[in-house]
Amino acid sequence: MLSPVCPSLHLFLLAILSIFMNFPTSISADDMRYTNCTKGFVCGRITRIKYPFWGLNRADYCGKPGFELECQDNVPLITVMSEKYVVLEINLQLQSLIVARQDLWNDTCPAHFVNTTIDFTLFTNAFGVRNLTLYYGCTFSIGPIPGFLNASDCNINNTDINAFYVTRNSPIDPRLGRCNSTVIVPIFERNAQALDANRTTLGLAIDGGFGLQWDASDECSRCLASGGECGHNRTENRFTCFCNDQPRLKTCSDKPEEGIRSDGCLEEIRYSSGAIICIRLIGLPCCNGCTDDKNRDDHSEQILWQA
Ligand SMILES: *[C@@H]1O[C@H](CO)[C@@H](O)[C@H](O)[C@H]1NC(C)=O
Ligand SMILES: *[C@@H]1O[C@H](CO)[C@@H](O)[C@H](O)[C@H]1NC(C)=O
Ligand SMILES: *[C@@H]1O[C@H](CO)[C@@H](O)[C@H](O)[C@H]1NC(C)=O
Ligand SMILES: *[C@@H]1O[C@H](CO)[C@@H](O)[C@H](O)[C@H]1NC(C)=O
Ligand SMILES: *[C@@H]1O[C@H](CO)[C@@H](O)[C@H](O)[C@H]1NC(C)=O
Ligand SMILES: *[C@@H]1O[C@H](CO)[C@@H](O)[C@H](O)[C@H]1NC(C)=O
Ligand SMILES: *[C@@H]1O[C@H](CO)[C@@H](O)[C@H](O)[C@H]1NC(C)=O
Ligand SMILES: *[C@@H]1O[C@H](CO)[C@@H](O)[C@H](O)[C@H]1NC(C)=O
Ligand SMILES: *[C@@H]1O[C@H](CO)[C@@H](O)[C@H](O)[C@H]1NC(C)=O
Repeated sequence: MLSPVCPSLHLFLLAILSIFMNFPTSISADDMRYTNCTKGFVCGRITRIKYPFWGLNRADYCGKPGFELECQDNVPLITVMSEKYVVLEINLQLQSLIVARQDLWNDTCPAHFVNTTIDFTLFTNAFGVRNLTLYYGCTFSIGPIPGFLNASDCNINNTDINAFYVTRNSPIDPRLGRCNSTVIVPIFERNAQALDANRTTLGLAIDGGFGLQWDASDECSRCLASGGECGHNRTENRFTCFCNDQPRLKTCSDKPEEGIRSDGCLEEIRYSSGAIICIRLIGLPCCNGCTDDKNRDDHSEQILWQA
């Protein structure tokens, strides 16, 4: 480490640096978190997805907990209450997404029976849905129930079992109470109607998914409008606005969250070579031979090298 340097020497160093390291004209460095969050999530048909979503190429601070997206064989997935859902569509403006059950994805005979449960701490509501109920392993084989699925259509664990579905809660055939398992799946109302009219299949109706909406707070749009990228501070569990230089509470016009660091370093510029230049505004004892210490005390820049 090269300690306090004289003004003439540090001007010389600055000149050298500007030639060899393309020294930025303004003393601002891109915050890595800002850079990371500018990249949208891309997977299959889903592109340019940002806050509150994160995952894959987006670090966890770019989104809210619970909004992690995965990409499996070009299929975007989200986990809600331990169950995976295929993400069909995300609309950041309308704060809505369309998801379909992964376990029932083009296969209505899953190896495990699970109801759809929505985490209402994350999502405000499910929209335009009707509950479809699937009945598996019933003690009767044929009945006047709309939506009878052939037993041979359901082969679970090498056992043929029968299955039925109803698209309405009533009237419920009392015999359905004698089925081994029931699974509730929300589907879009229009798909439920198409299913009732034999215009679609059970599989397609389920794969059409259902809609979810998340909290419609506008703090993110204000941050974006100020040139920032929305993020989440996990230690404080709150919104944060990542700006080009550093994070701020709400928008990039707010005063910085992180001021001068304890080591007196105002700004740190990192280069890929590993060199770190720290620019100080705080006076430090000057090197021997300097005359006008007083003048420089508050305004001098000092450059420190680190390996
Ligand atoms: C952003 O962060 C994630 C997770 O840390 C990392 O995998 C990814 O490469 C980063 N992307 C960019 C563009 O820095
Ligand atoms: C799902 O559909 C794809 C093609 O559309 C097919 O290849 C695959 O076998 C299907 N999977 C199941 C479990 O039916
Ligand atoms: C199928 O087998 C798996 C593994 O043995 C078991 O966990 C699961 O409950 C079985 N599914 C059904 C519907 O019996
Ligand atoms: C699904 O919910 C229904 C009604 O609440 C319940 O009777 C059924 O046992 C649940 N199914 C599973 C697999 O948990
Ligand atoms: C669907 O069923 C769940 C419980 O399994 C219930 O909370 C929800 O209100 C039902 N939705 C509709 C539209 O009936
Ligand atoms: C219902 O479950 C029981 C116990 O797992 C099983 O013995 C029976 O065969 C099942 N009934 C049908 C119709 O699948
Ligand atoms: C399935 O049901 C249809 C009528 O809905 C019938 O024509 C067909 O033969 C059945 N298939 C099997 C394998 O039982
Ligand atoms: C749909 O098909 C089933 C069996 O194939 C039939 O019983 C039912 O009447 C049909 N519904 C309509 C609305 O056509
Ligand atoms: C979270 O807030 C703390 C305290 O304000 C701050 O030290 C930290 O750098 C912030 N983290 C992020 C990712 O913004």
